[in-house]
Amino acid sequence: MSNIRKYVIVVFIFTIVSSSTLFNLAYSKPILGKKGMVVSASDLATKVGIEILKKGGNAIDAAVGVGFALAVTFPAAGNIGGGGFLVFVRNDGFATTIDYREKAPASAHRNMYLDSSLSPIPSMSTEGVTSAGVPGSVAGLLLALEKYGTMSLQEVIQPAIELAERGFKLNYELSQSLNFNYKNFEKFPSTKKIFTNNEKKFSDGDIFLQNDLAETLKRIRDYGTDGFYRGKTADLIVDQMKGEGGFITHGDLSNYKAIERLPIRGNYRGYDVISMGPPSSGGIALVEALNILENIKFSKEDFHSSKHLHYLIEALKCVYFDRAEYLGDSDFVTVPVERLISKQYAKKIFDSIDLNSASKNKSINAKVFESKESFETTHYSVYDSYGNAVSVTTTINGSFGSHVVVDGAGFLLNNEMDDFSLKPGFPNMYDLIGSEANSIQPNKRMLSSMTPTVILKDNKPVLIIGSPGGPMIITSVLQAVMNIIDFGMDVEQAINMPRIHHQWLPEEIYHEPFALSSDVKMKLETMGHKFQHRNSMGRLEGILIDRKNNIIYGATDCRGSGLAEGF
Ligand code: GLY
Repeated sequence: MSNIRKYVIVVFIFTIVSSSTLFNLAYSKPILGKKGMVVSASDLATKVGIEILKKGGNAIDAAVGVGFALAVTFPAAGNIGGGGFLVFVRNDGFATTIDYREKAPASAHRNMYLDSSLSPIPSMSTEGVTSAGVPGSVAGLLLALEKYGTMSLQEVIQPAIELAERGFKLNYELSQSLNFNYKNFEKFPSTKKIFTNNEKKFSDGDIFLQNDLAETLKRIRDYGTDGFYRGKTADLIVDQMKGEGGFITHGDLSNYKAIERLPIRGNYRGYDVISMGPPSSGGIALVEALNILENIKFSKEDFHSSKHLHYLIEALKCVYFDRAEYLGDSDFVTVPVERLISKQYAKKIFDSIDLNSASKNKSINAKVFESKESFETTHYSVYDSYGNAVSVTTTINGSFGSHVVVDGAGFLLNNEMDDFSLKPGFPNMYDLIGSEANSIQPNKRMLSSMTPTVILKDNKPVLIIGSPGGPMIITSVLQAVMNIIDFGMDVEQAINMPRIHHQWLPEEIYHEPFALSSDVKMKLETMGHKFQHRNSMGRLEGILIDRKNNIIYGATDCRGSGLAEGF
């Protein structure tokens, strides 16, 4: 055993023994590293990232490699046909974000998904080519690499090409999720070709080959963004649109640009919070919630007490109301960012919270539907030996997106248009209500909940975290951050602890198994809160950096089947 490994184990055991006994009951070990760490929802993609770091690449190089690998090994959410957000914090404290959210095609218009009586047309925004926004992932990953990476595109994309061309063994989870979606894939001949096993079901251990996708990735390797947004790949996308009544044109593709934006910044109990701004609601909602909750002190014993949960729920009601009311693409609408993330605004909200009873939701002309859980989106976190941190959340929206594979190009198109507010007051597939701020306009980016986040102490990254889960992304990240800062958990505990979720509408508070003791639930119910059980919410992938002892801890959510690997 190396001296480093011995040292890490000694410090680790000391940390467990000396920490509070309260959470040791739920203890499972985070993964340890000395130099770098990658955590993603796919073991193969994590290994691609680790190999890049071991070759001396930085966190951006690894993140771009992982992004392309996920498009091959985690097709339910990893993608080149969707979009995402990347938060980068350099070792000197410089922080930036790359927005590669999909956008509406130029021909899009406010009522495009409504029938003549102004009712949403079933499935049009959720399935098939009509639901696809102009993909942003390739532009975003390449922009990040060009500006902040150190390796060539050829080097970082090659592992993904090999995984697609040589194939990889399907694990149990992926074979099951492909089989589970068989009926969705059957509807589209181009999808059936790729995602069924010659029109039969897959078994774990089957080799999964994606030759068309390998060729598309090679065009990106050889021609950069032109390998996707122009030439053969663009022709194949546009042919698919023309054949099936979609909206994306050559002009939409060649005009797509990823945008570098300033991050949302907050401060919570002495930690700096760096997260994603519009067109994501994630950073604003996270900072607003933390600002409200900073007004009350929690001790370790308060975890999931009625006090903790009441304040958390009441804060979330305001945060999700603001999300619905004010948030949209800030290139198109004025978003009152400074007000929403100000401490003064949060204090006013906090002062309005009644200690003893649940507030009544502000009424809105909203129709509320049963929520459909989905783990479509995916998050990955990277930390390198130079001290740089990257936090990426990427999505094709629903599980396997629009369910349409671009024929001959081998990748799935997103169904992200459903993240727009199709009709103000009408809920989307996640029951999220939107207002005019998120209505459809040509070339506008649809509002997201993705919350890729880096937390700093003394200007250095200490936590890199994010999650899939639609609206539950924000609440999952918020609770993990609080679990670490307020309740002293390590990253594994913080990620795996049961969660609750509230999004203003519907009125019910969702809770995972073991999130509530019966007496806490009863007390909250007498205060006017209503609950509904959910099996699982969010899948966090996190890295915690113990700067004092120079140890990097990685953790993947027990709700998923990802891999944290360090070196
Ligand atoms: N498609 C989920 C999100 O962007 O929030």
